[in-house]
Amino acid sequence: MSAPAFSPVSAVHAPDALGATVRIRGWVLRTRSSGGILFFLLRDRTGVVQVTGRRDALGDAAFEAAEHVQIEGAVAVEGVVAEDRRAPDGREVRASRVEVIDAGEPFPIFSDQTEEFLLDKRHLAIRSQENVAIFRVKAELLRAFREFFDREDVLEMTPPILTGNAAEGGAEAFRFDYFGRPGYLSQTAQLYLEALLFPHERVYALTPSFRAEKSRTPRHLTEFLNLEVELAWSNFADLLDFIERMMVDVLHVVAERRAKELVSLGRPPGELLAIQAPFERVRYADAIERLQKLGFPVQFGSDLGTAEERALTLESKSPLFVTHYPRELKAFYMLQTRDDPRTVDASDLLGPEGYGEIVGASCRETDIARLKERIAQIGAKTEEYEWYLDLRRHGNIPHAGFGLGVERVLRWMLRREHIRDTTPFPRTPSRHTP
Ligand code: 4AD
Ligand code: MG
Repeated sequence: MSAPAFSPVSAVHAPDALGATVRIRGWVLRTRSSGGILFFLLRDRTGVVQVTGRRDALGDAAFEAAEHVQIEGAVAVEGVVAEDRRAPDGREVRASRVEVIDAGEPFPIFSDQTEEFLLDKRHLAIRSQENVAIFRVKAELLRAFREFFDREDVLEMTPPILTGNAAEGGAEAFRFDYFGRPGYLSQTAQLYLEALLFPHERVYALTPSFRAEKSRTPRHLTEFLNLEVELAWSNFADLLDFIERMMVDVLHVVAERRAKELVSLGRPPGELLAIQAPFERVRYADAIERLQKLGFPVQFGSDLGTAEERALTLESKSPLFVTHYPRELKAFYMLQTRDDPRTVDASDLLGPEGYGEIVGASCRETDIARLKERIAQIGAKTEEYEWYLDLRRHGNIPHAGFGLGVERVLRWMLRREHIRDTTPFPRTPSRHTP
């Protein structure tokens, strides 16, 4: 087919489109033919429209070719926009021409298939209407973050993914041979962002982080998107305020721009719009007390696992900051609380409704002696962190930052049982293909 140009499918639903001739193209979502009438639901990136074609309008050869188009086959259609009460949005395109671009083979995905099968066919399963909605929301969320950082004058940086440091604790890093020396896949961009903060003061990076944990849980991926921010001159209160402001902003933006998708995924946007600052803040020590009252066998020093985190927010509709964790539970770079040497100025933000940690935040230790002590305690070599310690030798200033697990946030926003649903090609201990 040549000119006129193709219209997006959404143009069919424009108020003045009735009676107009349109040319559209896309993939077949559903198809059948009966009694000399062909019926397609056609999808492109802008929407879905019903297409009908009569044998007498298309001609025998074209009609029969079109009849052989499989689900997810590709076609181009020319036709007139007409009213049809049974069609989505009450419109259809009555085709005068159907060009088969690829009839396709029988589509292997249909209803009632196992989760494993769908993961094996993930490269095709991502075309489903449900997955389209999920990844539209994800794209909108990433856009909302970037817009927020723009307004807040936080600059995007591009730290490396290949590194010689295993910053969050060596055991969980993917290790590989880097021309004869140990190399790691980045677990965090943080140390690099801390370096970049001195020339830029307010920086962020949106990069994949890798964790070689064999945790087969519904909230762990071995590769996830870590949205990390580092802010100069920030104290603990500034840090939590920033995170709170950011979360409220992006949740509201996504709720407004992707209301339709959110509804279809079972999260009424009103629930996100209802989330307002301030979020409740509870000290770790008080959280332990709450948990004890709920019957958990925990004490000061216990790590908060999935069950404990879940219990803390099961009944809440808003996120919860847990603050002042014991130093031993947390990373070496966190600032020791100046009036309580047992704890660090760190906070995990827990998602509502029992979803658990979505953000890990802290002020950074500025005292070089304490940093060296902590590096030794975790069994790492000071030499490997010499470059990082240099940052404490040249213009050392108070600063703070955080990492937000993008898929963790989406898992909660979209009420998904499993985090793998929130990434197009999930990486888990049992799967790194397709
Ligand atoms: O809490 P984490 O390990 O913190 C850091 O990486 C810091 N260096 C960030 C910083 O301060 N710049 O990871 C940050 C967030 C967690 O709060 C969680 O939401 C998510 O990343 N996350 C994971 N998401 C999916 N799968 C995993 N295995 C994850 N591990 C952490
Ligand atoms: Mg954490």
